Amino acid sequence: MLIKKPSQLSLNENEATPETIYKQRRTILKALGITVAGLPLAQTAQAGLFDSFGKKDKPVDKRRVLTSESSPYSNRALSLTPEDKVLQYNNFYEFGTDKSDPAARAQNFKTNPWNIEIGGLVSNPITLGYEDIFKSFPIEERIYRLRCVEAWSMNIPWLGFPLASLLRKAGPLSNAKYVAFETLYDPKQMPGQASRRLGGGIDYPYVEGLRLDEAMHPLTLMSVGLYGKTLAPQNGAPIRLVVPWKYGFKSIKSVVRITLTDNQPPTTWNLLAPNEYGFYANVNPRVDHPRWSQASERFIGEGSIFSSRRQPTKMFNGYEAQVASLYQGLDLKRNY
Ligand code: MTE
Repeated sequence: MLIKKPSQLSLNENEATPETIYKQRRTILKALGITVAGLPLAQTAQAGLFDSFGKKDKPVDKRRVLTSESSPYSNRALSLTPEDKVLQYNNFYEFGTDKSDPAARAQNFKTNPWNIEIGGLVSNPITLGYEDIFKSFPIEERIYRLRCVEAWSMNIPWLGFPLASLLRKAGPLSNAKYVAFETLYDPKQMPGQASRRLGGGIDYPYVEGLRLDEAMHPLTLMSVGLYGKTLAPQNGAPIRLVVPWKYGFKSIKSVVRITLTDNQPPTTWNLLAPNEYGFYANVNPRVDHPRWSQASERFIGEGSIFSSRRQPTKMFNGYEAQVASLYQGLDLKRNY
């Protein structure tokens, strides 16, 4: 995700291919006397991505096979993004801002033992250990669209269970209105947490939040796997959130804490750039990012990243029929 860049770098995403964005950015940065290594925040993310995607060695696959049930919420008509791209083209700033950094740097990330705590305004606080996470709920396959705020998208066969099933076990109290999520904080294992430059200037731990009704929606998934196996570290092992109608940054990875609250919780990207990233972050082709259009997206499928086809962005990422009622009467331009 890009944060601040000189105004000369603004480009209409509809008119530019990723390669031209990258080349123009490099030229302009050079003219400004800025070296890529010296960039303070996340400006290197896309440049690094386009440089290195597919060139690094494939990490060894330590993932376990998971059995799953089919789900009426899965969209089997979607053409899938190839597994190697889902595993190598990632945003996980705890491991660096380049899209290839998480796959390169997270392979020794310890995901077992793991504890996830569910607490706050609940009648029955819960702590799940690593094996409990996989044993406590029937695992479903959900083929969902993933739309990043950076205007690229993938179709991914996730494995997981509804967040609602977990929250019901904890018993939300009547004054619970929001759900706050937190990623593991461990700078020894996550180099981006130990270095502001590597970690994109984020104050860690990475935090996210949903309204309680969004969290209870049947599409909202706690994912423990993809493509028939447990999650790879770079995709947020052992457990992450997936909210398919919102920009990808809401889908927080490697979750250790879920807290029900009566106040809207702070969220990482909103704290970093409040005029660019809101609390709601619903995918919306009619509400542009201040620096680029959200009307279309690059779909990452077969073939090279550079030749990814552009397609129109769908309202609520294609889940309008299921979720529009959550936002009746809400001004989606103000509540971006
Ligand atoms: N969660 C944490 N903890 N740290 C991150 O940097 N990046 C987000 C989201 N969850 C991120 C995160 C963003 S911007 C996106 S698009 C998705 O993860 C990407 O998920 P993927 O790499 O599995 O495709």
